[in-house]
Amino acid sequence: MFPITRLRRGRSSGSMRRMLTETRLHRDDLVLPLFFDETISSVRYAASMPGVPVYPVRDAEKVAERIHAEGINAVLLFGIPRHKDGNGSGAYARDGVVQKAIKRFGTRSDALIIADVCVCGYTGHGHCGIFSHGDVDNDPTAELCGRIAASLADAGADVVAPSGMMDGQVAAVRGALDDAGHRNTPIMAYSAKFCSSFYGPFRDIADSAPSSGGRETYQMNPANAREAMREISSDIGEGADIVMIKPAMPCLDVIHNARNRFNVPIAAYQVSGEYAMIRAAAENGWLDGRAAMTESLISMKRAGADILITYFAEEAAKEMEQ
Ligand code: PBG
Repeated sequence: MFPITRLRRGRSSGSMRRMLTETRLHRDDLVLPLFFDETISSVRYAASMPGVPVYPVRDAEKVAERIHAEGINAVLLFGIPRHKDGNGSGAYARDGVVQKAIKRFGTRSDALIIADVCVCGYTGHGHCGIFSHGDVDNDPTAELCGRIAASLADAGADVVAPSGMMDGQVAAVRGALDDAGHRNTPIMAYSAKFCSSFYGPFRDIADSAPSSGGRETYQMNPANAREAMREISSDIGEGADIVMIKPAMPCLDVIHNARNRFNVPIAAYQVSGEYAMIRAAAENGWLDGRAAMTESLISMKRAGADILITYFAEEAAKEMEQ
């Protein structure tokens, strides 16, 4: 090889490096998570998520206009309801917080509206389902997810994203959507969702931390990469149109393996704690936040993700090609 081959030749100038770039980010890759809170009348921030606003529902039109102007192609909506109860009925209420936000948002933007399907923010106990005898009851929760998904699609969601990690939830959601006449509404399944400490800041924002215990009985053990392939494979079998892997940076191996094995589109979710780490270090002057953001997103795409869900979406879109 050396001295005939000199890999540094390809790094000789900016033009050369650009021509040889293997992985490029594009605005259309990005999904921006958005939070709407029914209990507030002006924007609020959680201390652990600087730069990530939580909007009152009445701001939905204004946010939609801004997102449209920035060229963001897709958003992922989460809600903080006024009332919580045992089975998260606010998540499927016709006038639920996300249902209301979707209707307003949709009037001002044609960005794809993806709606998270879960009850952790809607239940007093903070678990992702119906809780009985110290654990989340799988099958009734999967049915509940179906009901929520149909309600969100009725409100105008373009895509639904079940995130509770119940067995059979994708099938239940597909069945409920079809029964409600939403045969063409795609499912983005949170297929390999690991039980991760990196969700901490999200739980501050969404007030969705479990009041007792953790999510170990439903979210995956971060040690298990082979099991992630089984989760993805079963979600595809149940009708998932897009599969998601989260968190992203700790799971680049899982993204890569999934890319090699499956031909479905893959979404990577750079979660709240990943965002918070980069933000915090940047605010302390410990690293270049913009460069770290871009490098982290490139790594997710290089690993094999087609779709990048990130709290940096607005900032990243400004940096990217059209
Ligand atoms: C709801 C849900 C969570 C996230 C996305 N959907 C929280 C959790 O599982 O506790 C986390 C997203 C993030 O951390 O950015 N089940």
